[in-house]
Amino acid sequence: MGRRTIGIVLNGVTGRMGLRQHLLRSVLAIRQDGGLPLSDGSVLWPEPVLVGRSEAKLRDIAERHGLTDWTTDLPAALARPDVEVYFDAQVTSARVKALQMAIDAGKHIYTEKPVAETLEQAIDLAKLADAAGVKHGVVQDKLFLPGLRKLARLVESGFFGQILSVRGEFGYWVFEGDWQSAQRPSWNYRAADGGGIVLDMFPHWHYVLEQLFGPVQAVTARAVTHIDRRWDEEGAAYDATADDAAYGIFELAGGIVAQINSSWAVRVNRDELVEFQVDGVNGSAVAGLHHCRIQPRAATPKPVWDPDVPTTQQFRSQWQEVPDNDVFPNGFRAQWEQFLRYVAEDAPYAGDLWAGARGVQVASLGLQSSREGRRIEIPELDR
Ligand SMILES: NC(=O)c1ccc[n+]([C@@H]2O[C@H](COP(=O)([O-])OP(=O)(O)OC[C@H]3O[C@@H](n4cnc5c(N)ncnc54)[C@H](O)[C@@H]3O)[C@@H](O)[C@H]2O)c1
Repeated sequence: MGRRTIGIVLNGVTGRMGLRQHLLRSVLAIRQDGGLPLSDGSVLWPEPVLVGRSEAKLRDIAERHGLTDWTTDLPAALARPDVEVYFDAQVTSARVKALQMAIDAGKHIYTEKPVAETLEQAIDLAKLADAAGVKHGVVQDKLFLPGLRKLARLVESGFFGQILSVRGEFGYWVFEGDWQSAQRPSWNYRAADGGGIVLDMFPHWHYVLEQLFGPVQAVTARAVTHIDRRWDEEGAAYDATADDAAYGIFELAGGIVAQINSSWAVRVNRDELVEFQVDGVNGSAVAGLHHCRIQPRAATPKPVWDPDVPTTQQFRSQWQEVPDNDVFPNGFRAQWEQFLRYVAEDAPYAGDLWAGARGVQVASLGLQSSREGRRIEIPELDR
């Protein structure tokens, strides 16, 4: 069987996500393995066209990775008939305009989250893409993490019985940038530049909750800016105007209550940078990026509250590791493969621009909840 080439515009490859996760660990990794095998025995060969604003940076990346196709002219790249897919990993604030251009050019769309800064824009994009008849997908990488894959397996097996609650802890200390450089780009901490932890992380929590446990029906959140002064990539001080921590409660169908803390102003006292504890009547689990541990009902200890006596139980040791029983590829690559198969051979695919819009919806209603100090029900999107 033959090899079919598929041209993919990758916009934002000079950024953290665009370069490391999408170009190197996904598209080029697929090429290093000989291309993507399709169900008819043929192979799909992704041909990246690097797009960005800086000629020098693009040339450097291309040369370092043996690529020759790059341009700062997005409209010209989108006009090429050999380009079938547009991918966007730009800063969030630059996304909508570029996605609109790509849809207008008739390209299939794959994009980082959040798909837009406002719900209205996110819905318009989904409608535009549907009307144009192009395929569309949004990055949902957390679902492909080994820890969450094992958690999904537990849910599917019925391990939990009735699921009662989910508690998530995400975050780590992001340095302010004065005496140690910040490990995340400064735009994330400026509201006017599309920053903020709610807009960044609630879309992730939304697809995790929706796909693992069920529809998210209401949100109550408190978003705050704990650190209001930071130093940027050039060492210049700036006012951090975006929220850097969010304390959220998400109510799911079936009465499940999910409570997730997200913070860039917290120090890690956990095994992983994100962890979800799921409690069900028949058992509980704690899942992180890589690991997943369980405690079934029949092996649940019986602690008794007695503040006068130091506890003798080693609670953390009472959990059992869930084995991998599988090989988990890089999550970004796994999703790229799904999306490319969807484009090339109409394979099943979840996580389109409508799912992306629901993620933006929960972020925007979360921010509204915080501003107004109240719980907000989440209506279904009007298609
Ligand atoms: N899926 C995930 O886990 C995950 C993680 C982090 C970030 N993201 C998302 O990926 C996107 C990129 O985030 P990142 O951390 O790679 O950011 P980054 O700052 O490292 O990269 C941003 C990219 O956008 C380009 N860009 C285009 N227009 C720009 C403008 N006007 N100002 C500044 N840069 C501009 C930059 O050149 C660069 O290539 C964001 O939308 C973010 O929400 C997703």
